[in-house]
Amino acid sequence: MRYCNETKEKANGVVYTPKEMAEYLAGQMIHFSKIDFSKQTAISLLDPAVGEGELLIALIQAIQNINQGINIRAVGYETDATVALNTQKTLSRLFPNMDIYIISGDFLEIAGNINEKYDFVIANPPYIRTQILGSDRAQEIAQKMKLTGRVDIYYAFLLYMKGLLSEVGVSGYITSNKFFTIKAGASVRDFMINNYTIHAIVDFGDTKLFTASVLPCIVIFSNGKTDDGKNVKFTSIYETKAVDNKVERCNSIFEHIFESGLFSLPDGRVFEFQQGSLQPVQKGSLWVIASNEKDAWLRKVDSNTWKRLGDLGKIRVGIKTTADNVFIGDDWTGEKAGIELLQPLITHRDAGQIISKKNTGWKVLYTHTIENGKKIAIKLDKYPKAKAYLESHFEQLSGRSYVQKAHRNWYEIWVPQNPASWKNRKIVFRDISEQPEFWLDETGAIVNGDCYWIDIDDTVFEETIYLALAIANSKFIEKYYDAKFNTKLYSGKRRYMTQYVEQFPIPFSDTPAAKQAIELVKKIITECVDGDTSRYMDELNQIVNTIFEV
Ligand SMILES: C[S@@+](CC[C@H](N)C(=O)[O-])C[C@H]1O[C@@H](n2cnc3c(N)ncnc32)[C@H](O)[C@@H]1O
Repeated sequence: MRYCNETKEKANGVVYTPKEMAEYLAGQMIHFSKIDFSKQTAISLLDPAVGEGELLIALIQAIQNINQGINIRAVGYETDATVALNTQKTLSRLFPNMDIYIISGDFLEIAGNINEKYDFVIANPPYIRTQILGSDRAQEIAQKMKLTGRVDIYYAFLLYMKGLLSEVGVSGYITSNKFFTIKAGASVRDFMINNYTIHAIVDFGDTKLFTASVLPCIVIFSNGKTDDGKNVKFTSIYETKAVDNKVERCNSIFEHIFESGLFSLPDGRVFEFQQGSLQPVQKGSLWVIASNEKDAWLRKVDSNTWKRLGDLGKIRVGIKTTADNVFIGDDWTGEKAGIELLQPLITHRDAGQIISKKNTGWKVLYTHTIENGKKIAIKLDKYPKAKAYLESHFEQLSGRSYVQKAHRNWYEIWVPQNPASWKNRKIVFRDISEQPEFWLDETGAIVNGDCYWIDIDDTVFEETIYLALAIANSKFIEKYYDAKFNTKLYSGKRRYMTQYVEQFPIPFSDTPAAKQAIELVKKIITECVDGDTSRYMDELNQIVNTIFEV
């Protein structure tokens, strides 16, 4: 199994919270609480995934700073019995006059039986991907919470709070920002909007505040409803390379967390701090910052938009063999010479802007064909060399139990896609990359699963394709992507997947600037035979900005 080598730490989702972040979260929870600390005599706190207690400690200290005399009862749950015991000892020693209960156990198992309500629930729940969580457990959580799509364990921790918050209760969560913008996060987002009053969101983007490969966020909420995103304070902090304004130095993200502008950390990374609100909330809508400046920019783009990239044709993902070492490669010589069924394969290695950077000559042993208009697996007996070659990998190929379960032949590629559609002209693009790489392919080659491609409708004019290539490869589209989808991978790369790419704007094609872009793309395609288009990209970027008047 892919994840069986995960360390114990990772499998339990253990990523402890940095002190500054814990203090910031505690302070904000108190800020949004309706409790009158000067009058209140007792307060109850909960951390459902307490670890070493960093969050409870920060919260207790913040409350004590306001009112020393308040009676605090703090409860924590922790699956790791040793950690639970140590945390109990630490907290009892630090706060000898308080009721501290660190319970060793699985909070998600126990949550349904807890009757107590809490004034503050503070948490950094584990981030465990479905694969590690086990699909049965994920399924169980999904059913219980009426969630659809892929389930991460922190979803459950977020949703269970509904029954545990007191009337004045405030919950503060540190978690992964992934559910803000992925499709599978829609049911959690909708649940939260419909059941909680969300006070504040901080998207820490690619600040790398944790060592884990997670883009962290903070969400602060109470029971209730969020009718209008305008009432939700939204802070967004993302690294930027486009530094044309004044940059102020700082020692930590938290020094300027309430401000807007560009700030650089001692390690040289520059971050853009934005303050705004949550964009209007509707069913399924993404959690993205709305700020006046950004809204105005997006409105301007919209007013200059004619079509979307998704209007050019269906966006498809490439093939998946699930045995790449057998089916694909760039060396089919020696023992492999003369194998039938080999076909040219486009992979991310061929990627380029507007045109393919280089043809790397990869090939795929493609196991499907079209018969009477239907996709079918080839008859292996007809291809003796391919047969002998595939049989030499019989053990690996037949070990793919899901192929058998689907009543397919042991030698088949797992996701072959439709062999009829590659022949057409297409726009291919990389799934994951920092800058966009969209290029025109007229070779009819098959596309590998590390790329997507647009199966361009026959009715689309050539000029529109060139215009789309100009936009999709521009710096403008990087800015558009960040403004609209507000999401990045840990590595600073973007995911160019259908749900985003289909929304890329295509401007009206009859403006002088659009015509200029079309001509330039034509020129690039005819002139850059070596695949290097970089010398034209600055010019193209300027034209695209003019087109959208940004
Ligand atoms: C991400 S760590 C956070 C710890 C601490 N609250 C902090 O912020 O530093 C999550 C902790 O929850 C524990 N944990 C994981 N699953 C749990 C569950 N189902 N119930 C209770 N604790 C759990 C892990 O062992 C780990 O100590």
